[in-house]
This record gives sequence, structure tokens and C-alpha cells, in this order.
Amino acid sequence: MSKTIQAVRGMNDCLPSETNIWQMVESVLRRVASNYGFAEIRMPIVESTALFKRSIGEVTDIVEKEMYTFDDRNGDSLTLRPEGTAPCVRAANQNGLLYNQEQRLWYMGPMFRHERPQKGRYRQFHQFGLEAFGIATPDIDAEVISLTARLWKELGINEHVTLELNSLGSNEERAEYRDALVAFLTEREEQLDEDSKRRMLTNPLRVLDSKNPAVQEALVGAPRLSDYFGEESKEHFAQVCRRLDSLGIEYELNDKLVRGLDYYNRTVFEWVTSSLGAQGTICAGGRYDGLVEQLGGKSTPGFGFALGIERLVLMLTSLEKVNNVRPQVDAYFIMLGDSVELSAYQLAEQWRDAVPDCRLQNHCGGGNMKKQMKRADKSGAQVAIILGENELQEQKVTIKYLRGQNEQESLAFDQVPNLLEKLI
Ligand code: HAM
Repeated sequence: MSKTIQAVRGMNDCLPSETNIWQMVESVLRRVASNYGFAEIRMPIVESTALFKRSIGEVTDIVEKEMYTFDDRNGDSLTLRPEGTAPCVRAANQNGLLYNQEQRLWYMGPMFRHERPQKGRYRQFHQFGLEAFGIATPDIDAEVISLTARLWKELGINEHVTLELNSLGSNEERAEYRDALVAFLTEREEQLDEDSKRRMLTNPLRVLDSKNPAVQEALVGAPRLSDYFGEESKEHFAQVCRRLDSLGIEYELNDKLVRGLDYYNRTVFEWVTSSLGAQGTICAGGRYDGLVEQLGGKSTPGFGFALGIERLVLMLTSLEKVNNVRPQVDAYFIMLGDSVELSAYQLAEQWRDAVPDCRLQNHCGGGNMKKQMKRADKSGAQVAIILGENELQEQKVTIKYLRGQNEQESLAFDQVPNLLEKLI
């Protein structure tokens, strides 16, 4: 026998036992996004490598070591998208969506990063992302954050997540701060680890979110970014906080929150949970007023976020919030005896016409009652609809409830759609 071929490390299959949870999550994401006036956009999975280098930043972990980059047959350098914001900006620009207008867009799909796989961290993972273009005022920051808060409420996990909030100020304020931070770090260079020493030269703000306790120790007394804010940045952030307060959305201010992508300015945020172990960030985003212009468009402010669907699904499963997920099959149709089969299939088609949303699975492959009941039970259906020769003569079916305590009953053929309707 030849050797079986395995999936690529860090790239997972999503099996039928999980896809119904994914579908439930995706339908909540879609519905809430449209509740807030966002429309779907779909971008290609592959983009020019330059798009990500120019937006995420040359000296970020993603661009330096995590991208799946290859030359195609023409010799063009292409990259499997590691995130959706840059492709969304590219698509909006290219298709004239940003020309003197606001846009509220969302997208969902696979992203690729060559990270070390572990629980909640994969090389192919799925994001739901949302971007609002053309609005510079803090109202949209709070509106988008409140949309994320609604997602957790609807998914039943709001008590298990915390919102962390920070402001990165403007590019100029950050540049001034960077100089002060580098001067501070240079004096303590011997206390830094190799990674932080390297970052100090390339991307000093990232030293702030080092996980190394020794580095955190060295940072005590470091200058604070907020001390470099001018009036506008201060007021913008205060407005975001005020709006979140008035909506009753709690947050923790975290001045170490700097994000791993370079395009942010002003408001940044992350939703974190302690129920996932090391990969506790389920959703992250912020403002990126310079990105559209940086990618060749007309200066247009932006605000958005992305969440990791795998992390949400893991969280829902570990918190046992998946009991109300609809099973793949609502009703299983058992047919006993060759003489009833043709009628059974005709009836099933009539019922599907009458109740298009019902998931009705016909038994195929014959067999006795025991075998068919076993299949019915395994299908996850709530009821088994049974048609035998006696039933056919009486134009009735027998309904057996597979979950709960309901007694078996007999139903006329034309009453079955009512029952199916109730199962949805
Ligand atoms: P990000 O922080 O790189 O931001 O990713 C957003 C979310 O994607 C993370 O919080 C996490 O839930 C999920 N995620 C990231 N990497 C992995 C992975 N290797 N495995 C599983 N899940 C992962 C962005 O991507 C920005 N584009 C967000 C944004 C949109 N900012 C403004 N608009």
C-alpha cells in the first residue's frame, strides 16, 4: 500500500462534527455586521508581496518570517494573504470605492502565517474582518468596538472576554516618543534580551509588549507615549472612552498594547480571554488613517478589526456554548419495505417543497427497522418519520421522537410539514 499523504502542518480540516458550529458562528458574524450597515467584500487569497511589505511593515514578525511567499510562473512575487486589511484597502482603492465616499465593508476567509502551530495558532486560519473607511471622528471607533461587544453577547461569551484599549497617537507624536524610548532603552541595553535589542533598533515600540519579565523590569520608569500626545489625539481618545462608557462597555487601558502591524495610529484595541491558554487574543484592530494613502490611494481614514474564527470556535466549545447549535439533520425518514419506497421519496420531495429550510434526510441502502433507527439516531435528527406498508395504506406516518420525552404519534401525510416547520 502506498503511504498516505497528510495535510500540511498547521493547516486543518474542518470536519462535519465542527462545521455546524462554524456555520452558527459565521451566521452571527454576518448578521451582526449587516445590522450595523456593513456590506461584504471578497478579495483574492493571493496578492502581490509588495502589498503586505508596504502596509504591515518590513520589520514586523509577519513580513520578516511568517509570509508564504513564492514566485509564480511569470516570476512575479506573490504572497498568500497573512491578513485582510491591506487586501481590502487595495480592492477598495482599485475599484473606486473610496472616491469621496464612506465605505463599511466586511470579509471572511482563510489567512496564512508560517507561525509555530499550537492550540489556537495555525498556519492557515480564518478571520472575520471589518473595515470602515472615510470617517476620521471617534464615533466610528466606538461604533465598531460596540459591534464587537454585541458579537460576544450574541455568542454568549461576553463574560469571558476583556477589552483592552490604548491610543498610539499620531505618526509625528509616535516618532518623537520613539526617540525618547530608544534613549531610555539604550541606557538599559544590557538588561534587554536579543529580540528586544534588535527591536530597539528596528521597531522600538514592540519592546513594550515583550513577554520577557526581565525586559518588563527594565521598562519600569520608561517614558509614556500618552505624554507625547497633542490636544487632538488626547481628545480623540477621550471621546472614544466616553462613548464606550455611555454604552456600558467596560475596558482596561493598556499602554503596552502596540499591535504587531505597523499601520495603526490613535485607537487600538484587543479582546482577550483567559479560557484559551497562550493564544488569548480573539479579536484585534484599530485606526489606520495613513494606510490608504501609503498604498497609493487618496488620503482616507480607516478603522477596523479582525477576529480569529478558530479561536472563537475553540472558546465556544470549551465553554460548552454549542448546545443550541442546530444539528445537520432535523428529521430522518425511515422506509420499511420495497413497496413503500417510491411513495416515500415522492412524499419527501413534497415536504421539501413545503418546508424548504427543513433538513430532511431519507434513509438509503435498505435494511430493517433496527438498522434504520440506528442511522436515524446517529444522524442527530430530532425525529424519525416512519413509513411502512400499513402506514401507507392509511396515508399516515409514525413519528418517533429521538430526543426528549415525547410519545410516539401517528400523523397524516399532510400534517408532516407542520411538524417539520416546528423542528427548524
Ligand atoms: P491580527 O492581530 O494580526 O490583526 O489578527 C487578528 C486576529 O486573528 C487575532 O486576534 C487572532 O484572533 C487571529 N489570528 C492571528 N493569527 C492567527 C493564527 N496564526 N492562528 C489563529 N488565529 C490567528 C490583523 O490581522 C489586522 N488585519 C486586524 C485589523 C483589521 N486591523 C484593522 N482592521
